[in-house]
Amino acid sequence: MHRREIPLTLLVLMFISTSEETCTSRLHITAVEGEPFYLKYCSSSSEHENKTATIKWYKNESHGPLELSSSSSPRIILLDYVLEFWPVHLNDSGSYSIRMGNDTHDWKLNVIRRPKHSCFTEKQIMSKSVEVKKSLQVACEHGYYQKLVNRTLLYKNCEKIENNQNPFLKKNAEFKDQGYYTCMFFLLHNGKLFNVTKTFNITIVGDNSNIIPALLGPKLTHVKVELGKEVQLNCSALLNEKDVIYWNIWEKNGKDPNVHEEEGTRIRTSEGKRLASKILRIENVNENNLNFSYNCTAASEGGIDTKSFILLKKDPVDIPGHIFTRGMIVAVLISVVIVCLVTVGAIYRVDLVLFYRHFLGRDETLTGNECRHAGISYFTVLFRSYINKH
Ligand SMILES: *[C@@H]1O[C@H](CO)[C@@H](O)[C@H](O)[C@H]1NC(C)=O
Ligand SMILES: *[C@@H]1O[C@H](CO)[C@@H](O)[C@H](O)[C@H]1NC(C)=O
Ligand SMILES: *[C@@H]1O[C@H](CO)[C@@H](O)[C@H](O)[C@H]1NC(C)=O
Ligand SMILES: *[C@@H]1O[C@H](CO)[C@@H](O)[C@H](O)[C@H]1NC(C)=O
Ligand SMILES: *[C@@H]1O[C@H](CO)[C@@H](O)[C@H](O)[C@H]1NC(C)=O
Ligand SMILES: *[C@@H]1O[C@H](CO)[C@@H](O)[C@H](O)[C@H]1NC(C)=O
Ligand SMILES: *[C@@H]1O[C@H](CO)[C@@H](O)[C@H](O)[C@H]1NC(C)=O
Ligand SMILES: *[C@@H]1O[C@H](CO)[C@@H](O)[C@H](O)[C@H]1NC(C)=O
Ligand SMILES: *[C@@H]1O[C@H](CO)[C@@H](O)[C@H](O)[C@H]1NC(C)=O
Ligand SMILES: *[C@@H]1O[C@H](CO)[C@@H](O)[C@H](O)[C@H]1NC(C)=O
Repeated sequence: MHRREIPLTLLVLMFISTSEETCTSRLHITAVEGEPFYLKYCSSSSEHENKTATIKWYKNESHGPLELSSSSSPRIILLDYVLEFWPVHLNDSGSYSIRMGNDTHDWKLNVIRRPKHSCFTEKQIMSKSVEVKKSLQVACEHGYYQKLVNRTLLYKNCEKIENNQNPFLKKNAEFKDQGYYTCMFFLLHNGKLFNVTKTFNITIVGDNSNIIPALLGPKLTHVKVELGKEVQLNCSALLNEKDVIYWNIWEKNGKDPNVHEEEGTRIRTSEGKRLASKILRIENVNENNLNFSYNCTAASEGGIDTKSFILLKKDPVDIPGHIFTRGMIVAVLISVVIVCLVTVGAIYRVDLVLFYRHFLGRDETLTGNECRHAGISYFTVLFRSYINKH
C-alpha cells in the first residue's frame, strides 16, 4: 500500500481546534502578558434568549469589587457575556465575575510573563497522542478569534515550519513528528497587530496491534569462547507489550552457578516496535558450559519462538596476542640495532682499529684508574674478537 493512500483508507485520527468550546468553563485560567485574551461566560441557551437581565462584569480589587466598563480602560471591551483584553497585562491578574440578575460566575485569572526562550508556555498546552502511521493533523484555527486572523504561522518546537502559507499539517505520523506544535495567529484589532498562540503537545504512540514475537538472529548460534573468560549472549526479540522473553538455563542437575540471567531491557524502535533484550552472562567459562544448548524463548498468547546458543572452545593460541606483539617489536628493534652497529663497524673499521691502538697504547701508560681500565679492557676484548672475525 502506498503511504499516500493510508489517510483515505484508515481511520483518520485528527483534531480540529474549532471543536473546542470557546467559552471559559475553567475556574483557574492562565494568560500570557501581551496577548489578546477573553473571558466568556458559558451561558445556557435559555439565558441567551432572555436578555432582560442586565449583565455586569466586576474585578475583585483589594477594596472590593470594581465594576468594569469599556470606558475604564481602552484595553478592555465588554460584549455581554464576553470580556476582552487587548492585550492582557500582568496587573490584570485577579478574580473576575459576571453578574446577571441574581446569577454570578467567578474566574481566577493568572497572567504570566511571556517566556523568553520559547514561543509557548507549558501552562497552555493541549496534549494529543497519535498512533504511528496514522494521520497526523494540526489545523491552526482559532475558535474565538478566527474572524480577526490576518495571518497564521505554524511552528514545531518553536521553529517555523517551511512553506506554511496555509498552516495546516497533514501527514502520516512518524516518531520524529513528536513535539510541540504552535499555531501563532496574528490578529488585526483597531489597526494594531496582536498575536496569540495555541500549542499542541503531540506524542506519537506505537502501533498497538498484536504481532507474532520474533527473535532476532539465526535459530542456532555458535559462539567461540576461551575457557576462563566471560561471555555474554544477547537474546533480542520484537514483541508485544505483554509478551515475555526468557532464558532456559536449567540443566537436569540444576543451574550452573556461573550462569547469570541479567535484567531485561525494552526499547521502542524508530518504527514503533517493541524491542526486548535479555543478556545471559556466563562468567569464567568452563567445560560444562560447552556443547550445551542455551535456549532463549519469546512467548506471547499467539505462540513462542526459541533460539539456541552453543559455546565452542576457541582453538588455543600458544602466546596471548599482546605478548606476541610486544615480543615481535623487541625482536625487530634489536635486529635493527645490530644491523646498524655492524654497518657502522664495517664503514669505520680502519679508523676504529687505529683509534683503539692509539687508545690502548695510552691506556698502558695509565695507572690508578681500575674502573676505567677494566671497562676499556672489556671493550678491547670485544673489539679484537670482532676484528678477528672479519
Ligand atoms: C425572561 O425573563 C423574564 C423575567 O426575568 C420572564 O418573565 C420571561 O418569561 C423570560 N423569557 C424567556 C423566553 O425565558
Ligand atoms: C474578593 O476579594 C475579597 C478581599 O480581597 C475576598 O475576601 C473575596 O473572597 C474575593 N472574592 C473572590 C470571588 O475572589
Ligand atoms: C498595568 O500594566 C500596564 C503595563 O504594564 C500599565 O500600562 C498599566 O497602567 C497598569 N495598570 C494599572 C492599573 O496599574
Ligand atoms: C433574585 O433575588 C431576589 C431576592 O433575593 C428574588 O426576589 C428574585 O426572585 C430573584 N430572581 C431570580 C430570577 O431568581
Ligand atoms: C508532552 O507530552 C509528553 C508525552 O506525553 C510528556 O512527557 C510531556 O511532559 C508533555 N509536556 C508538557 C509540557 O506537558
Ligand atoms: C493583514 O493586514 C494587512 C494590514 O496590516 C492587510 O494589508 C492584509 O490584507 C491583511 N491580510 C489578511 C489576510 O487579512
Ligand atoms: C507577538 O506579540 C508579542 C507581544 O505583543 C511580541 O513581543 C512578539 O514579538 C510577537 N511575536 C511575533 C512573532 O511577532
Ligand atoms: C542486544 O541486541 C540488541 C539488538 O541488536 C541491541 O539493541 C542491544 O543493545 C544489545 N544489548 C547489549 C547489552 O549489547
Ligand atoms: C562438542 O562438540 C564438538 C563439535 O560439535 C565435538 O567435537 C565435541 O566432541 C563435543 N564435546 C562434547 C564434550 O560433547
Ligand atoms: C534447547 O533447544 C534444543 C533444540 O530446540 C533442544 O534440543 C535442547 O534440549 C534445548 N535445551 C534446553 C536446555 O532447553
